[in-house]
Amino acid sequence: MNILENISLKKYNTFGIEANAAYFSSFKSIDELSELLAFKQPSTLILGGGSNILFTQNFNGLVLKNEMDGIIKIKEDDAYVYVKAGAGVNWHSLVLFCIANNWAGLENLSLIPGNVGASPMQNIGAYGVEIKEVFYELEALHKEDGKTVVFNLNDCAFGYRESVFKRKYKNQFVITSVTYRLNKKPTFNTSYGAIELELERMQVKELSIRAISDAVINIRSSKLPNPAEIGNAGSFFKNPEVPKDQFDNLKKVFPNMVGYALENGNVKLAAGWLIEQSGPQDVVSWKGYRKGDAGCHAKQALVLVNHGNATGTEIYSLSEEIIRSVKEKFGVVLVREVNII
Ligand code: FAD
Ligand code: EPU
Repeated sequence: MNILENISLKKYNTFGIEANAAYFSSFKSIDELSELLAFKQPSTLILGGGSNILFTQNFNGLVLKNEMDGIIKIKEDDAYVYVKAGAGVNWHSLVLFCIANNWAGLENLSLIPGNVGASPMQNIGAYGVEIKEVFYELEALHKEDGKTVVFNLNDCAFGYRESVFKRKYKNQFVITSVTYRLNKKPTFNTSYGAIELELERMQVKELSIRAISDAVINIRSSKLPNPAEIGNAGSFFKNPEVPKDQFDNLKKVFPNMVGYALENGNVKLAAGWLIEQSGPQDVVSWKGYRKGDAGCHAKQALVLVNHGNATGTEIYSLSEEIIRSVKEKFGVVLVREVNII
């Protein structure tokens, strides 16, 4: 067990924020994890790829980087294969592994940064699919009693960017592996308009999970900033849900407002549009706005960026200003998606 002291977390978060961990270690197995958890600290923080985190201060406890590896097929039946991956496996590597084996279900989720262990945390989603649609079960270790618990689909209470691990069991469990149920016979999901357009542009003759993955990769690369080049954590806010009446009233004043009808009768608004259509005093739009090194991405207003040396507090303050101005203009309150530490 090797516990390091006073370690910079800059390279461990895709925002590239400078913050220190009082103690830092990593684990490759449940035994190593158990040993580390016995090293009692005021708090522990489990870290995957650090792509959905904003550090606004130093972390005064023990940061534990999950490096549990391995992908195995645990069983199969006529329709499905069940694939179990260690929480430390890079998400996109798992997606590519499944595509190479012709196991369908993850292709729409190509190129999402981060690791397997965080995928159930916020029920990651993109381009018409959320992991709850292919999720089978996960194993998690309780930080206090050290017992391993299996969570099935219902136990996880998945919602839009939500799970039981962000609410009732917040900070209580370490997810050690996740098992996905993948289709042997794919049903292609091209419901997200941009995918159809990209497939056409690519002149795809025969639809396949690889073609969908390639299309998603192209779309994502065209508008989302690569964290290796510019610090960010993807969408900073969730897309807000409002009652249909409120949407209809807003539409009368803002005819171009973007919204998608939900099954529950509400409407999901595009937060990127709300942010693009509002701005700080004397500036038309937040999109492309920059204050010091904290900014709002020029191609996707929902993504806040670190142009170099922004502090976590500067990014957070910018997010507060955006929330205030969107609320003033549209009466809609944006909620942060990124985990604030
Ligand atoms: P981290 O940032 O390391 O951790 C996130 C949270 O989960 C933290 O609270 C952490 O403590 C906790 N955690 C991590 N691992 C474990 C574990 N094993 N056990 C218990 N708790 C754990 N997300 C989407 O849903 N859809 C997208 O399309 C999308 N696009 C993105 C694009 C970019 C460019 C970026 C930078 C991010 C994007 N994200 C997206 C957000 C992010 O990639 C996902 O939320 C991802 O699942 C985070 O994984 P991670 O391993 O980096 O988690
Ligand atoms: N829009 C604008 N201006 C912008 C950005 C978006 O007007 O600057 C409008 C456009 O009309 C566009 C609509 O918003 O058609 C939706 O934009 P986009 O397709 O880029 O998706 P999003 O709603 O901004 C969500 C997820 C992403 C996910 C994509 C694709 C959330 C919070 N974000 O973004 O997830 O990749 O859809 O499915 O739900 C993440 O969670 O980090 C993330 C990147």
